[in-house]
Amino acid sequence: MEILRTVAELRQWSRAARSTACGGTVGLVPTMGALHAGHVSLIRAARASCSQVAVSIFVNPTQFGPNEDYARYPRTFDADYALAKAEEASVIFAPSVEEFYPAGASTFVEVEGLGNRLDGALRPGHFRGVATVVAKLLIAAEPDHAFFGQKDAAQVAVIRRMVADLRMATEIVVCPIVREPDGLALSSRNVFLSPAERAQSLTISRAICQVEALASVGERRSGTLIEAAHKTIAVESAIRIDYIELVNWTTLQPVEIATPGTLFAVAAWVGATRLIDNTILD
Ligand code: PAJ
Repeated sequence: MEILRTVAELRQWSRAARSTACGGTVGLVPTMGALHAGHVSLIRAARASCSQVAVSIFVNPTQFGPNEDYARYPRTFDADYALAKAEEASVIFAPSVEEFYPAGASTFVEVEGLGNRLDGALRPGHFRGVATVVAKLLIAAEPDHAFFGQKDAAQVAVIRRMVADLRMATEIVVCPIVREPDGLALSSRNVFLSPAERAQSLTISRAICQVEALASVGERRSGTLIEAAHKTIAVESAIRIDYIELVNWTTLQPVEIATPGTLFAVAAWVGATRLIDNTILD
């Protein structure tokens, strides 16, 4: 499995892959590395529908705030390479920061109205960085399909809006959240949790399940669902909630009443680790 380090190499590879006589299709799986079973599910989905799959591994500096965990974000390239190879990805795209953001780069993508909602409200500039790096990846790889996890549901809304607004040709495919057997959503940041924090963090997925259960028996009022989740998570006094919201998944605007497709999303700090989780209500 080849490692591509430059945009020119990625573009050349993708064009060759798509021009094969039998009509090759390219799938792109954007990641920041520290690959886990959630990422693997995206690679498998890409393999199932595309003839060639590129996995990008790039810890994107522009989506981290000045006091966030960019420096300590886990970087496990050798293990990531082995995992992507075992999953039969075609290539890895792993540019340096200097390659992907050439000196003097001053062009950014801002998705107005969505970029400052949910995580964007608490992490100013985060979705500007995400939209910018994903736009650059889509322009460089020109994939037929790009695969993202529902785990980052607000990110999905921002990317879908950007792709529609910029009339990009790539189809965005969203894959379900992969969880540990006890319910914790897989995340590259879970390695930062101490054993005690790991146990405390389960209240987040418990609150998600509780809201699903309430909604399934007909409770649709936003205030009631959010309050129930607050109470469940408050049991762990060590957890600090960033937000618990019920929003339209396209606009990220709050809704009063949940309808099919409404996004229920939680972000909370467990010690020094920020975790997010969500569910799309039926
Ligand atoms: P990263 O956190 O590495 O995640 C890469 C992709 O894996 C995202 O689409 C994310 O939603 C998905 N993913 C993470 N955990 C998952 C889980 N438990 N189940 C299913 N999918 C999961 O998200 C990013 O990187 C970056 O913001 C990126 C899009 C690469 C831009 O830098």
